[in-house]
Amino acid sequence: MQRWKVDLSTTDWQTAPEASQVCTALSNGELVAVPTETVYGLAADATNGLACAGIFEAKGRPQFNPLISHVPALADAQEHGSFGPMALALAEAFWPGPLTLVVPKKETSSISDLATAGLQTVALRVPQGPVMRFLSQKAGVPLAAPSANRSGKISPTRAEDVVADLGHALSFIVDGGACEVGIESTIIGLTDAKPRLLRPGGIARESIEAVLGVSLEGAPSTMQPDAPSAPGMLASHYAPDANMVLNAQEARPSDALLSFGPDRLPGAENALAEFNLSPSADLREAASRLFAGMRELDQSGANAIRVQFIPSFGLGEAINDRLRRAAAPR
Ligand code: TXA
Ligand code: MG
Repeated sequence: MQRWKVDLSTTDWQTAPEASQVCTALSNGELVAVPTETVYGLAADATNGLACAGIFEAKGRPQFNPLISHVPALADAQEHGSFGPMALALAEAFWPGPLTLVVPKKETSSISDLATAGLQTVALRVPQGPVMRFLSQKAGVPLAAPSANRSGKISPTRAEDVVADLGHALSFIVDGGACEVGIESTIIGLTDAKPRLLRPGGIARESIEAVLGVSLEGAPSTMQPDAPSAPGMLASHYAPDANMVLNAQEARPSDALLSFGPDRLPGAENALAEFNLSPSADLREAASRLFAGMRELDQSGANAIRVQFIPSFGLGEAINDRLRRAAAPR
């Protein structure tokens, strides 16, 4: 595995020899870890079934769980999916950015059936992070990329997280430093009459509803493992090795503490380890630090990570979604 450091405050990296080497690797069906504004992605050519199979294999991911395809711009997305008025409005408002749209897949799309898990819909995203857009543009194909972690584990927001989890499976890791948003994209389903929030994420529900002028439906509730109309909603996910205790009222000396805001829980000073997501109770900051905090506390060796209450508005909805899945029975 080759690690390529890029300084995202410049565009110098776009002309570096590594840029061409990474594209050659992608064209050869190899896997590359790429930073986005949300989390690091495990990227491969979405039109190459064998390459997509490599993603599932490296992650240990069930093959019924489809992948997001990343493209440089809305025009590219429209080659693969049908965009109605609501999809267009959201794309225009939030792309590039942490929003994924699930739309009907066009018959002429070159995206492999393995990437879409045989569904007649496709998940498309134009990320804000420039590396994924640049590589997709330069390689001339959409890039399928799930979060670059082993299936069910904590998503990576730093290059070293990816190396620890999946380094063995990669040709390259593009190291762009810590991800700014830190939590995955919001996924909106636009395949029914009404828009659905399939996964809360980096763009708050309130912002999306403001653009659409309607409230979002929830994900379909009757979920069978073999009928993945919204397969991302697997109950157990983002799981650390430690147990998670949500809405803790007090800290304990044998447990780690994931705190939030200026008010410290009783006993916090005696916790085995503590990580405050945002001392000023800023939900955006908390989202950006969530996965790194979970990883750090997990490494403390605590049996349990106790989590202080975090409000559910704005990005708090996505934060609480990830915490609930991390706490779910495995
Ligand atoms: O921020 C993100 O979205 C990151 C970065 C790398 O872009 N990617 C990411 O991918 O979170 P992943 O694979 O960890 O999550 C994608 C989710 C899965 O839960 C999958 O089930 C859902 O998107 N998904 C993909 N295609 C779908 C489809 N056609 N219909 C419904 N859900 C779909
Ligand atoms: Mg993931």
